Amino acid sequence: MGDSGREIIAIFKDIREKEIGMAVSDARTYMESFHKETPEYFSKVKREQLVSRVIMKKDIAVIILAAGKGERMKSSLPKILHPLCGRPMVSYVFDLVKSLGMRNVITVLGHKHEETREFIPPGIKVAVQKKLIGTADAIKAAAPLLKNFKGTVVILYGDVPLLKKETLKKLIKCHVENKADATLLTAKIDKPSGYGRILRDRYSSICGIVEEKDADDFQKDIKEINTGIACFNKENLFSALKDVKPNNRKKEYYLTDVIGILYRKGALIENTDLADIQEGLGINSRLELAKANKIMQARINEGLMKKGINIIDPDSAFVSYGVKIGRDSVIYPFTVIEKNVNIGSRCFLGPFVHLREGTNIADDVTVGNFVEVTRSKLGNKTLIKHFGYIGDARLGKSVNIGAGTVTANFDGTKKNETVIRDKALIGSDTILVAPVKIGKGATTGAGTVVIKHHNLPDGATAVGVPARLLRRKERVKKHG
Ligand code: UD1
Ligand code: MG
Repeated sequence: MGDSGREIIAIFKDIREKEIGMAVSDARTYMESFHKETPEYFSKVKREQLVSRVIMKKDIAVIILAAGKGERMKSSLPKILHPLCGRPMVSYVFDLVKSLGMRNVITVLGHKHEETREFIPPGIKVAVQKKLIGTADAIKAAAPLLKNFKGTVVILYGDVPLLKKETLKKLIKCHVENKADATLLTAKIDKPSGYGRILRDRYSSICGIVEEKDADDFQKDIKEINTGIACFNKENLFSALKDVKPNNRKKEYYLTDVIGILYRKGALIENTDLADIQEGLGINSRLELAKANKIMQARINEGLMKKGINIIDPDSAFVSYGVKIGRDSVIYPFTVIEKNVNIGSRCFLGPFVHLREGTNIADDVTVGNFVEVTRSKLGNKTLIKHFGYIGDARLGKSVNIGAGTVTANFDGTKKNETVIRDKALIGSDTILVAPVKIGKGATTGAGTVVIKHHNLPDGATAVGVPARLLRRKERVKKHG
């Protein structure tokens, strides 16, 4: 093998081992078998290396547009904070840039920017758009933070949160490899309403974008749409932005007009076609929010199933982002699990269960049929099988909660805690008025009301309203 072959192996080793874990020996065999095509391969490897360098290092800046009000949502909450599976939609965009190791990231905020700012993770810069007069103006707001930057600017939209890492990588690769001035992420969809349409000249080159509101009937029929996601050469982008005029029905400065301006200047405009159009879904209305939520939920559920969790009906399991569930747990239909909930292994959850924030469930626990649990801890092997409300409670191991049990945690002013220790047996329809403690192995009879501060000692049995402790003799009589 010649010197260039060795060089290739070295490069191969450097990038391939990291990226796809291919062993060097495999790479060597592969290269040797193709040694005649080495020069081409060499340039391919170099190009890939260049793309990785561009993505990871300082030649790339990202602008996330998130200033808009979201009129069509008809909400007092800024659009980008509307949750998808329990988390602001814009947070998924932050995850995306983080997953690609992008460091120079600017978010443009505007509407309620003080409220929104607390959701921006550390390390991401914030620019404020003073007047919300369009996406082109929003990009301009980021200009001072890019003063000394040269290279590729990637535009992401805070209301397009389903985009995947591989797709963005592909777009950047296409932009860098073609040395394009602009590269758009486009998609072909049957019902393109709401999206900007891609205009092509007679040679099929992209020559502009027309927004739906400004499109004529012929243009409205175009099925190729703009997802909003794009790469630009920085200098060209900012020089074209100067020429954008609010000549449209909304009287806004449209970023999309930059494409026509660049085309007329003879710039090279490329595109990458989005294979899975779901990734490009833009959220402008409650209907689109519901659609996006469904897609994100399917992704979360698929991830859980891959980790060994059994979901009987993925269409009716509503598990928030970030919920941790151990192997071999089973989720029955119509189970809602909110954020900040942790569940152990081999648990049975549902049907019709609502696990709310701050709930921690250990292993081998059953929470079934019409039970709500909030801000509570459930120890190993504890069972709450039918109807009930457990709030602000700490349950030990092997506790058995009878049907219809309620922890009365709210006294009208504050929430109070209920503690139920290991192996306690709570009879059906028991009401535990918090704050109250039930001792180890203690029992309540059906319909008991344990009033606050009247703690049950270990091994005690209580019955009635209000609960009274059974004496030893009575207990023996009762339990035989
Ligand atoms: C935009 C595109 C459209 C594309 C669609 C994809 C423009 C003019 N149109 O339309 O071609 O098909 O997205 O989803 O860009 N924003 C600001 N400042 C503003 C206005 C908006 O930061 O002054 C932000 C919004 O917060 C949002 C993004 O820009 O995250 C897009 O704005 P939006 O009003 O949703 O544009 P669309 O009508 O969806
Ligand atoms: Mg939008």
